[in-house]
Amino acid sequence: MQKRDIPWASPHYWGNEERYVLDALRSSWISGGAYVDRLEEDFARYCDTCYAVAASNGTTALHMAYLALDIHPGDEIIVPGFGFMAAANVALHVGAKPVFSEVDKDTWCMTAAEVEKCITPKTRAIVPIHTYGNVCDMARIMELADSKGLLVVEDAAEAIGSKYLGRMAGTIAPLGIYSFHATKTITTGEGGAVVTSSVELRDRMSLFRSHGMSTRRYWHEVAGHNFRLTNMQAAIGCAQLEQIETITRERDRVYKTYLQFLQDVGGVTLQCYSDNVDPVVWAIAVKTNVAAFPQGRDAVISRLKEMGVETRPGFYSSNSMSHIYGVENLPICDHLSQQVISLPSSPTLTEEEIKYVCDSFKSCKR
Ligand SMILES: Cc1ncc(COP(=O)(O)O)c(C=O)c1O
Repeated sequence: MQKRDIPWASPHYWGNEERYVLDALRSSWISGGAYVDRLEEDFARYCDTCYAVAASNGTTALHMAYLALDIHPGDEIIVPGFGFMAAANVALHVGAKPVFSEVDKDTWCMTAAEVEKCITPKTRAIVPIHTYGNVCDMARIMELADSKGLLVVEDAAEAIGSKYLGRMAGTIAPLGIYSFHATKTITTGEGGAVVTSSVELRDRMSLFRSHGMSTRRYWHEVAGHNFRLTNMQAAIGCAQLEQIETITRERDRVYKTYLQFLQDVGGVTLQCYSDNVDPVVWAIAVKTNVAAFPQGRDAVISRLKEMGVETRPGFYSSNSMSHIYGVENLPICDHLSQQVISLPSSPTLTEEEIKYVCDSFKSCKR
């Protein structure tokens, strides 16, 4: 096998990105501007919801959502113990306590049954994370939240375009957040958004996004932040969004090609999707089977790197970072954090590149 260099992810410009960025630059509107407004309109339309509020990244989108919902010190927010920890970190930043729920062993996402075990009189909100493009069982989670009077914010940073019972991930709860980071399904370099169908929540988020100022300049109605996206970044996003059908189609092709070649690798278990979910797979993640890879997941990652294949480990479980999050009884999260590896997942990968990744992976088997 001739050595190849295959990055885990690489941004791709599908059409009008350069033209729109130049247009934004030349317009002299380089902070906010027309492309920000357009991105908000186009993204809300794509998600089939009423409003999108653009943010400087997915983390500040979460922050804006928490502030708009008035999450405050002493509140508990239930988040999964396996997943990217932005929702937990932002909880800490607003003085709330993240409480970690176990995830399902097959979907790797939080479930209503596990969330219910975490509810206490201090619980204010649930933040389901749609990990790797899967979607949590939102019908049951919303039912539980409604019965207990809890808020829900969907973290759909990794699930742009994924659907649950025909609805876009991120639009089922009153608020849903997305990331437009360089590796995400559509990118603005750094960037993000919150979507909602509530005009009140949209207005509150807009207020917090810009130092609590609305119509009266330099008058702070609330102690806000600067969470704004620039016009140049939004210009990239508008161009990406024009090509979203192509991007999601190509992601699907990459996923299906992996399914074919991974059969030959063996010794791995893929993330499962319920029949209610139509995913746009953001990261092709597999769980390595200990018998097939006794050297351990991290040794496999190192060997693949030598062969030019860049991968990522599964997320560390909250328990692995007890210095920040404390320790809870989450054996599935701990297991996934030790065994999951995510493979190169760019939508531009060719069949030959995917075969190279899978052949390299197979050569690590003992
Ligand atoms: C699930 C999840 N939530 C939130 C974020 C934060 O997004 P950003 O990196 O744009 O701040 C990420 C980013 O990696 C993520 O994967």
